[in-house]
Order: sequence, then C-alpha cells, then structure tokens
Amino acid sequence: MSEKTTKRLIVGNWKMNPSSFKEAEKLFIEITKLISHIKKTDIIVCPPFLYIEKLKKLSRKIQLGAQDSFWENGGAYTGEVSSEMLYNTGIKYVILGHSERRQMGENNNFINKKIKGALASGLIPILCVGESERDLEHNYFNFVKTQLLECLNGISKNSISKVIIAYEPIWAISSTKDRKDAKPEDCKEMTIFIRKILSDKFGSESSRVKIIYGGSVNDKDAELFLKDGGINGLLPGKASLDPKKFSKIIEICETLNK
Ligand code: PGA
Repeated sequence: MSEKTTKRLIVGNWKMNPSSFKEAEKLFIEITKLISHIKKTDIIVCPPFLYIEKLKKLSRKIQLGAQDSFWENGGAYTGEVSSEMLYNTGIKYVILGHSERRQMGENNNFINKKIKGALASGLIPILCVGESERDLEHNYFNFVKTQLLECLNGISKNSISKVIIAYEPIWAISSTKDRKDAKPEDCKEMTIFIRKILSDKFGSESSRVKIIYGGSVNDKDAELFLKDGGINGLLPGKASLDPKKFSKIIEICETLNK
C-alpha cells in the first residue's frame, strides 16, 4: 500500500495536559465540533489515562489512544496501566517509546515488551523513534535502525502491519531546548530509510505499515510534511491542544485525502 492509497491519520498527543477534566472536556468538545464534517481522515487523540474513559463517550468520530501501557495484564506493578485494561476501556491505539519516556529511562527492551503486550491485547502500537541530533557522519541512521530492530525484535511478519511508526526527531520536538525546525526532506529521507529497514526484516508485509511524523507540526507546515514527507499522517503535540490549529491540520489532511 503506498502512502497515496493509505487512509491518512492525525494523532494528537496531549502529553500531561490539560490539568483538569473540565478543561479536557472543553478542548475535546471544541475539537469535535470543528471536525464534524471530516470523513476521510482517521482522527486519534491521546489524552492522559485519567480522562480517556469519560472523553470516549463524547465523540464517535475521534478515536482515543493512550500515551503508554504496561506489558503485563495484571499483578504487582504499582503505578502501571496494562494494555488489556486500555483495550477493555474501548481504546484502539497506544503511543509507545515516546522520546520523553525514553528520557525518563525507558529503553528499547522495555518498549519491545510493551509493543508485544499491546499487540497481544489487540491495541495498535504507535512506536516512536527518532534521533537527538543529526551528526555529519550520519550516525543518526544507525541510531534509528537500532531503535527499530530492538523495539520490533520478535514481532511476527503477520503482526507488523498492525504497528504504526512515528518518526519524531528529538531536535525538532517543541519541548526540546534550542529546537530546530525539521524540513519535509529530513522526514522523507528518514521514512525511506525506515521502510528499507522494515522491508529487510519483515518483507512485503511491511509495505502496509503506516509511518507518521511528529516534531512541532503545526497548521502552517502540515501540508508540506504530508505532501513531501513520504508519510501517512502526523503526530502533533502542542498543536493538538489548540482546537483551531489541530482541526486545521486535520482539514489539510482531509483535503489531501480527496
Ligand atoms: P510537538 O510534540 O508537536 O509538541 O513537538 C510531538 C510529540 O512529542 O509527540
């Protein structure tokens, strides 16, 4: 399936925002109103765990995702939330391996277990990969390759098409100090590389894997990334907390889907 024939998706990562359910509800309802006419784009919002169940009841069009999940289904794991619990709450997607979690100590081995747990529970993992800097020697390709191979170790060829890869260069993410803007060419170069790694490991099944891009995407550059980035969708963080910007990004995607 090529990037043109695949239904595109926009995934909003709310991170640890907003600070009350009341605000989350307001934000979610505003987004819901603004995107009511959208038909050809998959819209996913990933709020903090606490808000998922209540928000789920407020929109049929927006699907909900989580920002993390644990690999075991139950037991003595204080503070964790399992993929099975999330699946039973009715959600479909989970972001795994986000760079902000990696910075808190999560490694590829943990993420690998979480991906396996998510797939076993019926969730679609959105695996985040991305380098912290672009060195002149191009070591960043090897860095992303290692992330992919270690995080996807042991995943079967049959399961790989259920995984979404999010390429998020840390140097472009809004929370990174002294961040830089990534260009659609930077994104395209890496998505070609990611497709090659996936194809070498998983064969033709990997052509069905969706690759999305995140890193300060906003309503101004979304079109360029979607057109020239070689991707199937976007993962905005900061912009997903602004109903106008987020719905504009979805609108842009919808127009390109036509
Ligand atoms: P950003 O976040 O759009 O605020 O850079 C993206 C992400 O970290 O997932």
